[in-house]
Amino acid sequence: ESYDMGGHDTYMHKEIAEQAEAVDRVLRGRIDDKFATVHLGGLNLDPREARSVRRIKILGCGTSYHAGQIGAQLIEELARIPADAEPASEFRYRNPVVDPDTLYVAVSQSGETYDVLAAVQELKRKGARVLGVVNVVGSAIAREADGGTYVHAGPEVCVVSTKCFTNTVVAFALLALHLGRIRDLSVADGRRIIEGLRRLPGQIDEILKAEPEIKRLALHFADAKSMLFIGRVRGYPVAREASLKLKEVSYIHAEAYPASELKHGPLALVEPAMPTVAIVPDDELLEKNRAALEEIKARSGRILAVAHQEQEKADHTIIVPKNEDELDPILMGIPLQLFAYHTALALGRDIDKPRNLAKSVTVE
Ligand code: G6P
Repeated sequence: ESYDMGGHDTYMHKEIAEQAEAVDRVLRGRIDDKFATVHLGGLNLDPREARSVRRIKILGCGTSYHAGQIGAQLIEELARIPADAEPASEFRYRNPVVDPDTLYVAVSQSGETYDVLAAVQELKRKGARVLGVVNVVGSAIAREADGGTYVHAGPEVCVVSTKCFTNTVVAFALLALHLGRIRDLSVADGRRIIEGLRRLPGQIDEILKAEPEIKRLALHFADAKSMLFIGRVRGYPVAREASLKLKEVSYIHAEAYPASELKHGPLALVEPAMPTVAIVPDDELLEKNRAALEEIKARSGRILAVAHQEQEKADHTIIVPKNEDELDPILMGIPLQLFAYHTALALGRDIDKPRNLAKSVTVE
C-alpha cells in the first residue's frame, strides 16, 4: 500500500478498506498445514521455553491495549495460559511484581509509544522476557524487545487505528495458535482455527460491502449525545474498541460495559435518547445477551445489534459472517469502524486528525 489516497476521501476510509489485504499479509507464509500450526520466525522462544510460561501479561495503550485484551482471550482459549492485558502506563506506575515465569508482550502500532517503551525498559531491567507485537519494523519497541512478531498492517496514517487493530488481533491469534500447538491444542482444533483464519479476508470484504446500510444507520444515530456499547466475554473488548472509535472520531460520548454489569448501574441511563450498540455473537452466551437486549427494550432503549443473525429485540441488526467462536471478535468490530467513520463524516469532523489526539504519543 502507498500513501496515495486511491480514490478514498480520508485515510481512515482507505485503511478500513485495506483490511482484507492486510490480514492476508499477516497470514502469508506462516501457516504450517502439516502440523496444524503457525511459524513465527522472530519469536525467539523455543518449545521448552514456551512450555514453561505460566502467565502472559500484555501491555499497550489505546487501541493496541484493546487488541491486547482480545489477544489475552485468544491465548487463554487456544493455549490455556492465563493471560490478561493492562494499559502500559498503569502497569508501569504500580511497581508491578515482575515474575520470571511470566511472558510479557508489548503491543504497539508505531512501536514508539513512550508508556509502552518505558514499561518494556523497566521489565528488561528486572530481567523479564518481553516480546513485541508491533507494526512498524525496526521501531524502538521492536528493537528493545527480546523477540516478537510484526503485524504487517502496512502504513497506517489516520490517527484513529483500524486496520492495524484488526491485524494485531490476527497476529495474537497466530501467537495463541503457535503456543497452543506446543502445549495442549489438538491437531483438529489447530486445523479448525487455521481454516477460520483463512476465511477472514473474504469475510472482511463481505462486511465492507454492507457500507451503504451501515452509513444509513450511522446517520440514524448521529444525533445521539451519548451511546452505550455492551458485550460479554469475547464481545466485551470489541464493544470497548468500538466505543473508543466512535468517541475519538465523532466526539460523541460513548461508554462500554460488560453486558452482565448493565443491571449494576448503566441501566439507569437507558432511555430513548441513549442508544445501545450490542455485540451479540452466536456463541454459548447468545441467550444471556438476548436477555440483556430485552432489559434495554423494556426501558425503551434503542438498540443496534452486531450479530450473526437478526436480533428480534434490536431495532436494527448488522449481520456479520460467522467464523470460529474464538475468531469472531476479529470480525465483529469492523462494521462499527464504518459506523464511527460515517457518524464523524455526518457531523463534519476532522476524521484523520481528531482534535487533541496524536497518532503516536512519544512523550509522557
Ligand atoms: C495514540 C493514538 C491511538 C493509539 C495509541 C497507541 O493515542 O491516538 O490511536 O491506539 O496512541 O499507539 P501505538 O502506536 O502504541 O499502538
